[in-house]
Amino acid sequence: MVIMIVVLLLLYGVASSWATDYELLLEDPDIFSTCSEGPPGSINIRQAMNFDDLVVDQEADTLHLSGNVTVIWDVQPTDRITAKLDFFHYNRGSWEPTIFGMATQNFCSIMYDKHQYWYKYWTKFIANRHEVEKKCLRGPRTVLVHEPFDLILKLENFNGPLLRGRLKMVVLFNAVDELNIPRPNPICLEIRGEALKLK
Ligand SMILES: *[C@@H]1O[C@H](CO)[C@@H](O)[C@H](O)[C@H]1NC(C)=O
Repeated sequence: MVIMIVVLLLLYGVASSWATDYELLLEDPDIFSTCSEGPPGSINIRQAMNFDDLVVDQEADTLHLSGNVTVIWDVQPTDRITAKLDFFHYNRGSWEPTIFGMATQNFCSIMYDKHQYWYKYWTKFIANRHEVEKKCLRGPRTVLVHEPFDLILKLENFNGPLLRGRLKMVVLFNAVDELNIPRPNPICLEIRGEALKLK
């Protein structure tokens, strides 16, 4: 999940020719924040997943991760999971939307797509792939078993408009039943940080 902010920062740059290196400073030591304006009924990531068995060690710009995340999100095994990411930047006292973001109507079908950044940076390191491919983020009691892996909070040769100040990504997961009716307990999380220019 952490990596998604990196992903979106990568997507952020298409048009410009200025290559810049940034370090990303996460604002919340727990990485994920509760959404400040989540949809009604939404729960935060810690109400949907148990991180007690996940070990996160930060060493300068690197997060060392290992261990297990247990999904406790109570939705049905047949539900379809939708995901939406939106990217905001903080400007003059308020969070302003940007044009950057993405949405998928079936997150589970692309969770293991090799072309997606989250595969390269995250799902690739889930050891019990066969189980997770089937259960996806549907709980309760799905365990995501991670091999030890590193996330580097750095953007190198970022080609895009200059990033300044605070940024946040808002991620919303919803489960939708067979009649296409959303469950009343979507997951909403925010990752807030600051892009620090290195050169
Ligand atoms: C993670 O889960 C696996 C499989 O259930 C188990 O063998 C392992 O001990 C767990 N690791 C931690 C850190 O809880």
